[in-house]
Amino acid sequence: MSDETTKYLLGEDQIPTHWINLMPDLPGEPLPPLSPATKEPAAPEELLAIFPPGLLEQEMTPEPEVEIPEEVRNAYRLWRPTPLYRARRLEKELDTPAHIYYKYEGVSPSGSHKPNTAVPQAYENAKAGIKKLSTETGAGQWGSSLAFACGLFGLECEVFMVGGSYDQKPYRRSMMETWGAEVHRSPSQVTQAGRDNAQHDSGSLGIAISEAVEVAAQDPDTNYALGSVLGHVLLHQTVIGQETILQMEMAGEEPDVIVGCVGGGSNFGGLTIPWLRRNLRDGAKTRYLATEPAACPTLTKGVYAYDHGDIAGMTPIMPMYTLGHKFVPPSMHAGGLRYHGDSPLVSALVHEGLVEARAYNQNECFRNGTTFARTEGIIPAPEPTHAISGAIEEALAAKEAGEERVILFGLCGHGHFDLAAYDAFLAGTLEDPEFSQQDMDAAVSNLPEGVPSL
Ligand SMILES: Cc1ncc(COP(=O)(O)O)c(C=O)c1O
Repeated sequence: MSDETTKYLLGEDQIPTHWINLMPDLPGEPLPPLSPATKEPAAPEELLAIFPPGLLEQEMTPEPEVEIPEEVRNAYRLWRPTPLYRARRLEKELDTPAHIYYKYEGVSPSGSHKPNTAVPQAYENAKAGIKKLSTETGAGQWGSSLAFACGLFGLECEVFMVGGSYDQKPYRRSMMETWGAEVHRSPSQVTQAGRDNAQHDSGSLGIAISEAVEVAAQDPDTNYALGSVLGHVLLHQTVIGQETILQMEMAGEEPDVIVGCVGGGSNFGGLTIPWLRRNLRDGAKTRYLATEPAACPTLTKGVYAYDHGDIAGMTPIMPMYTLGHKFVPPSMHAGGLRYHGDSPLVSALVHEGLVEARAYNQNECFRNGTTFARTEGIIPAPEPTHAISGAIEEALAAKEAGEERVILFGLCGHGHFDLAAYDAFLAGTLEDPEFSQQDMDAAVSNLPEGVPSL
């Protein structure tokens, strides 16, 4: 390889054959999800009402690795393996001795990491005889990924799209409809949860989840699909991190720090879990940095507690960093990061000190995203501009220390449908809403009662 190598590419035969489950490597017993009805550990039958047996098995598995079904691996060939880039032009712009690498998931059909889990979820549901999947979407990335995946396996798809994003990104709706999905602006009038929350016109992921779960709960042929947060979703995303281990080997470097943005935790988990296992098993010293919006700062300001995953309290109660399930984050442009809670696994990793967390304002993120676009070419989705911000901060710290540190970050999607947000940034009209003490007090007062404290 010449010194100027910019892309590290793998062949289709190097698509991982297994997903990685970190749970068996973590100390102690995992905290169980609780039933919203009884507040006791949720029985598997309760979860079977909305998830197929194959996914439930993956959610509960004690195995450290789960084989990827051949049909799923074959669909992965449409865009995997994804490229790893060395950000040589960004390094030069920052005048840093750091080596910056990024894993680009924007080459998938829908433009982000989300099809990595949409495909196995659609596959397992089709195998179980389910006819339709319902879901929520924030940025529109997950809804379009599920619409695409349902098409591959002959399933119908119904999507509740957070109102603010629906208005900002009409072409995301067009994509979903092109792939055959039915799309509602959330809060909608077609569900009780939507009608009950009509006053929150710009919507939230918490409301849209309630709507999608309600639709699934009322029809035995319809299941619900979640694009983040749950164990099986993070499991599916570990194809990202496994590929980066091979690609960093090609580059002949070891990352000192790995950075990713966190909404519900799936791209961050997918990128870091295979590396984290090396910390836990082999004593590797890699650091991990989770980045999030200052307007929805679950990991940096939330409380670690049992809470619902949705505003109506219909989903199982999970242990996580949360701003309270009734918190409706301000309508900012990284719609995929507007979630009140976080993955229980990523939350536990932060709680145990294995992962650091930092929050950034959206103007700072778009500034860094624009610097990235002007040096590396790719226009990032608003969500990974938070990862870019973390990576740039780390690169500048390396410069300050005069050290040649190696930084790897997740560029989990492109921003081709997010240009209204770039327009607002370039016009100087983007606001930086802050999470206030009043929001914090409300978060704590909205937690469910009668559940174990953590
Ligand atoms: C491009 C992109 N990145 C990140 C996220 C956040 O989700 P997660 O934390 O599960 O990766 C989303 C969610 O919609 C997204 O669309």
